[in-house]
Amino acid sequence: MDTVAAVDWEKYVADAQAAYAAASTTQELADANVQFQGRKSPLKLALREVRDRETGMRLNAIRERLEALEHEATERVTRAELDRRLSTERVDVTLPARMLGKVAPRPRGTLHPSTQVRRDVEDIFLGLGYEIVDGREVETTRYNFDALGFPDWHPTRSPRASLYLDEDTLLRTETSPAQIHKMESVRPPIYMVSIGRVYRRDTIDATHFPIFHQFEGLVIDKGITMADLKGTLLYVLRQLYGPEREVRFRTHYFPFTEPSMEPDVSCFNCGGAGCSICKHSGWIEIGGSGMVDPYLYEFVGWGPEEYTGFAFGLGIERTAQLRNAIPGIRPFWDNDIRFLRQF
Ligand code: DAH
Repeated sequence: MDTVAAVDWEKYVADAQAAYAAASTTQELADANVQFQGRKSPLKLALREVRDRETGMRLNAIRERLEALEHEATERVTRAELDRRLSTERVDVTLPARMLGKVAPRPRGTLHPSTQVRRDVEDIFLGLGYEIVDGREVETTRYNFDALGFPDWHPTRSPRASLYLDEDTLLRTETSPAQIHKMESVRPPIYMVSIGRVYRRDTIDATHFPIFHQFEGLVIDKGITMADLKGTLLYVLRQLYGPEREVRFRTHYFPFTEPSMEPDVSCFNCGGAGCSICKHSGWIEIGGSGMVDPYLYEFVGWGPEEYTGFAFGLGIERTAQLRNAIPGIRPFWDNDIRFLRQF
């Protein structure tokens, strides 16, 4: 039988074209390939029997045409299948992973110990009706020192002690400048706490790190006395360290309070009997406080006698260290998950 003559090649190409155009899956494409270009397809059988040059050229032209159709269809189908998979097999990366068909336990992070103390401090003062205010980490010497009554010769003004950006701009060395910003923005009553980072040019060792956090309180109103300061700190320290705690005040000096006092909290570890945490004194130093120096009122343009107030500043890391018996400050900044996981 003359295979070549038995086939209507025009119709063959038209059928193939229709089949490739209709194919919308890889499988349908493969079927069209088998039917029109497979080993047993009329085209391949005819090619095997070619005897003359003219038929050969004609069939080869058909073969090339079919290969072009196949190529075209393959591109179209592949793209369509990819689109389909991208839209149907979309992965929600926020879903928990599966292990052996079960939802894998998702490791839960913990809040950094500094963050925990920060949040406790916020809760405690919000409960007392205080406002939480933000300060500035980049300060001018005017707010960081002048406004707070630091004399010109005070050692923390030195570039050896503090981190300056230029002659009169530095990273704040304490949160106390937040007091002045608040006083410049509103008239009393002021009941505020400001929490944030402070910077000192300290060499890193077990107890020093050039960055740490403080919380700073300021109360200014009519008729505020030292009893209010003592009562407030006693309440706050019992909230932070436990209801059994006692507080004592030692006189001290700060340029922006008069009188100034350092509050100590009775040792939560030994209850006051003496241990290594309180260095066998029964008391632990935790920060500074005092009655707002009238100089500050004058600085912001108020009369020195109109109001009275108190202020205090305590360390966040120090609080976290004491509460969790963390021996030094460095682990707070090491980002070592083995440390952080313990809290
Ligand atoms: N700013 C002081 C420091 O960093 C702490 C301090 C002392 C803050 C007395 C106060 C205060 O508000 O009244 O050492």
